[in-house]
Amino acid sequence: MGRQVLGLADELGFDLAGVVSRHHPGDAIATRWFPGLDALPSAPDVLIDFTLPAGTAAAARWCADHDVALVTGTTGLDRVQTGTLSAAAERVPVLQAANFSPGVNTLMALLGQAAGWLDEIRAVHVTDVHHVHKKDAPSGTALALAAALAPLEAEIESRREGEVVGDHEVRLELPGETLTIAHHAADRAIFARGALRAARWLNAQPPGRYGPLDWITASKQG
Ligand SMILES: NC(=O)c1ccc[n+]([C@@H]2O[C@H](COP(=O)([O-])OP(=O)(O)OC[C@H]3O[C@@H](n4cnc5c(N)ncnc54)[C@H](OP(=O)(O)O)[C@@H]3O)[C@@H](O)[C@H]2O)c1
Repeated sequence: MGRQVLGLADELGFDLAGVVSRHHPGDAIATRWFPGLDALPSAPDVLIDFTLPAGTAAAARWCADHDVALVTGTTGLDRVQTGTLSAAAERVPVLQAANFSPGVNTLMALLGQAAGWLDEIRAVHVTDVHHVHKKDAPSGTALALAAALAPLEAEIESRREGEVVGDHEVRLELPGETLTIAHHAADRAIFARGALRAARWLNAQPPGRYGPLDWITASKQG
């Protein structure tokens, strides 16, 4: 994902402060690479984080200490790591999204509407299919889709196959009918584009904890 963000940053008019990861990238990116956040020559306006949960928690602490807004797409955070994001949000704006695609966030909003309209949902099934390199299961998106239907309990099935970018399906069992809504991601660039757009919006926000619908709703109104 870091490479996807990097690939779109210029096109979307961002001035790149640097690329941070623990290991040397070993290619052309190396000219813009730093081995840690403290090695950056100056603090950026916004940090876009797609790492693993420990990296995200460290990034949140660093952003709070350096007055840097944080956009994070990392999934699989535990309660303590999530608490670190909330603590940082008391000092800087923090936007966390399990999925930055416009389609999935629309699906999220539709599910909230469905839960309000349908009062006889008997069962909820969520399926996520992703590439075999993905570390967490269920996916953060599957958990967020299930949460959009709370307090209904959802059964989640996760499958890891080949290089699948990300497929999600939500099935609502109703008396005598089934409502199925599905999303297929074909290109990881959609997540990077969303994260960059969210970063531009977040940079103008006061400290606080934000989700993808805050940014999408505000940009539709604006
Ligand atoms: N929200 C969304 O729309 C969305 C979309 C796609 C993926 N994701 C999530 O984004 C995360 C990253 O996905 P990915 O496919 O890019 O994974 P990836 O290819 O494994 O890349 C993870 C990167 O994080 C770095 N990293 C890992 N632990 C770190 C730490 N403690 N400190 C600093 N850097 C660390 C790794 O580099 P080094 O090992 O060199 O440090 C690596 O460059 C996952 O949680 C995934 O589920 C979210």
